[in-house]
Amino acid sequence: MKSYLFLGILCFCFFNCKQENPKKPPVTPNIIPIPLEQEVKEGSFILTKDTFVTGEAQFNNVIRYLRSYLDDQLQLHSNTPTAKNKITFVLDENITNEEGYALEINKNSITIGAKTSRGAFYAVQSFLQLLPVKNNGEEIPIQCIRIKDKPRFQYRGMHLDVARHYFSVAFIKKYIDIIASLKYNTFHWHLTEDQGWRIEIKKYPKLQEIAAFRDETLIGHYNDQPQQFDGKKYGGYYTQEEIKDIVAYASERFVTIIPEIEMPGHSQAAIAAYPELGCTGKQVKVATNWGIFDEVYCPTETTFKFLEDVIDEVVDLFPGKYIHIGGDEAPKTKWKSSEFCQQFIKEKNLKDEAGLQSYFITRMEKYINSKGKQIIGWDEILEGGLAPNATVMSWRGTEGAVKAAKKKHNVILTPTSHCYFDYYQSENENEPLAIGGFLPLEKVYNFNPIPKELTKKEAKYVLGAQGNVWTEYMKTPEKVEYMAFPRAIALSEVLWSSENQKKYINFVSRLLNFQQRFNQKDINYANHLNEIVGKFVNKDGKITYSLTTKNNEAIMYTVDGSTPTYTTAITYKKPVIINTSITLKAKVFSKTGEVISPLSSTKINLHKAIGKKITLSPAPNASYNAGGKDALINGISGSNKRYGDKEWLGFSGKDVNIIIDLDSLTPINSIQMRFHNGNGQWIYAPKKIKIDFVAYSSEKTNLDVIPIKNRDALLCNVHVKFKDTKATKVYINIPNYGVIPEGKQGAGHKAWTFIDEIIIN
Ligand code: ACM
Repeated sequence: MKSYLFLGILCFCFFNCKQENPKKPPVTPNIIPIPLEQEVKEGSFILTKDTFVTGEAQFNNVIRYLRSYLDDQLQLHSNTPTAKNKITFVLDENITNEEGYALEINKNSITIGAKTSRGAFYAVQSFLQLLPVKNNGEEIPIQCIRIKDKPRFQYRGMHLDVARHYFSVAFIKKYIDIIASLKYNTFHWHLTEDQGWRIEIKKYPKLQEIAAFRDETLIGHYNDQPQQFDGKKYGGYYTQEEIKDIVAYASERFVTIIPEIEMPGHSQAAIAAYPELGCTGKQVKVATNWGIFDEVYCPTETTFKFLEDVIDEVVDLFPGKYIHIGGDEAPKTKWKSSEFCQQFIKEKNLKDEAGLQSYFITRMEKYINSKGKQIIGWDEILEGGLAPNATVMSWRGTEGAVKAAKKKHNVILTPTSHCYFDYYQSENENEPLAIGGFLPLEKVYNFNPIPKELTKKEAKYVLGAQGNVWTEYMKTPEKVEYMAFPRAIALSEVLWSSENQKKYINFVSRLLNFQQRFNQKDINYANHLNEIVGKFVNKDGKITYSLTTKNNEAIMYTVDGSTPTYTTAITYKKPVIINTSITLKAKVFSKTGEVISPLSSTKINLHKAIGKKITLSPAPNASYNAGGKDALINGISGSNKRYGDKEWLGFSGKDVNIIIDLDSLTPINSIQMRFHNGNGQWIYAPKKIKIDFVAYSSEKTNLDVIPIKNRDALLCNVHVKFKDTKATKVYINIPNYGVIPEGKQGAGHKAWTFIDEIIIN
């Protein structure tokens, strides 16, 4: 007996002393989102089968959660009340934030202090990240530490569109688990769309029979010509029992679910089931293509009765405070041509169709308020007048948030520029198909949800922000995970951590560790951390191209277009001098010669404007100006597929004037440029452009108006040839396309103009 005791003491000393090696100063752990205050201390707590998890009764749900985690994940079953080392949950009077917590890990005790179970749950999430990624399942050392933490924003949301593609209950639970572990507190469940209705409504069985299924689905990208379809029936819906199960599951993880029932637009699936809800009464099909559809609800009493009945069932299923009613992208075509709608506008003394949309939303708001709930709508609900109690989700930039906050309405930021995780996240041409755009991890990380136009007082209306996962191009859970993570990990830190705690480099080092936790959970996150980032540098007319990567391994490159190999490629030491056109290919190799990055390939076409001075008026939109103005004359063309990389510059709604100063009288044989024409993303090539010169010496002038042809293509090229022409300066005037026509995405708004390289030969 004695010898066992001695052995026990020896083991105890061994584990503790091992951690107290003075040569190894304790390192700050890798918690994401980074806590407000962390003080690492000497030594470790040893988690074993005997560790007892206990605490005040109000924390019982979190205690149960932690015990079951330790049981299921770590097989630490016993939980002995007489154990020496304990994890204790206590009510901490000093904590005032509902989601705040204090976590104190000493050698023999762990204390979790919080005001609410919610705070205690977030303490547990930090605690779980303190467990070593690998453990022996017997005795798990946990670094002694003191943490005090609370969130920066009260609304921390992730969205998922289950209408464009349906995802199983098991996957929805996995998604909720992941976001809860990142301290998100809201899951915005986008349940209804043109392409499918996914929530069981008992009073309207045709929503299940008809609206939940489409005949087929678009293959490839919306912009592909000709469009092709798979010919396979597709669909599904969540039964009310499944929804209750998911809501309860989320609630155990302190995630509130906001259901979205779209109105008046994005409602073609419901109209396919009940044609009387539309303005023509004609039978339509559940949409099989992506985009915006003219079929919207007609504001008849039949429609309002239908929507109120739907809301009745929805409010019974979702205990949260909010119902999202959509409100986005509702074309007014049908309302304009409907006698009923025009008469309705007159009778109700509404200004126009925008006034009718405002009437629609306000009426539904009143009904939803009468059920004790609040509405959220996309920023289109500002048009024609905002419903009195509505919260606005600003997605078309931040203007909607600014307008609504100035009107004293709560706002949630989800701008496409920083929160649309359906955009590409890497410039690599081999990325899986996405909707377009470009939103790399660092850009998400650097997002500040408080628009700078707001005063401190107005900024109080910013509840937080949300990452959106639209699934037109995500058929599988694996693809959703790939697109959502790690960007949602970065956003979690934007939303939780204080601004002065945030540093991207430090985030990346923690993310490298976090990836191992995701590996264990079988989460298919994207990993672009080793990717090579190239940068064009023009220093006094000397052109170089630099290559960097986030790790310290060797970059090796070739300039002849061949694929770099460890034995033959040049080791990158300093920026590559560009004095001829080249294709620069690079890869990162580990010290043992393994490739640890995707191939980076950049074609640099040396032409006469490279390294010259360029003036742009107006400046590109801040969200689409990654390469700066030199991107237009750096010899590198943008991606053929997407518009948001650092070579494409985006201008919102304005005519663009460009001056390229060539320094001296320069012969000009041709000017080439291209415009992105991704109409689905509100981007339109101009109808014409104008080119002019200083010191122009051609005999013929036909430069006034150059029409842009092939306007159906995704990329519109302009190639103008000149004869006997010399110039010191080139002027290019690009009139904006104008207002986007009715029935198209972004109808009624001025189009964006996107330009990449201007090639002067
Ligand atoms: C949206 O992306 N249509 C809100």
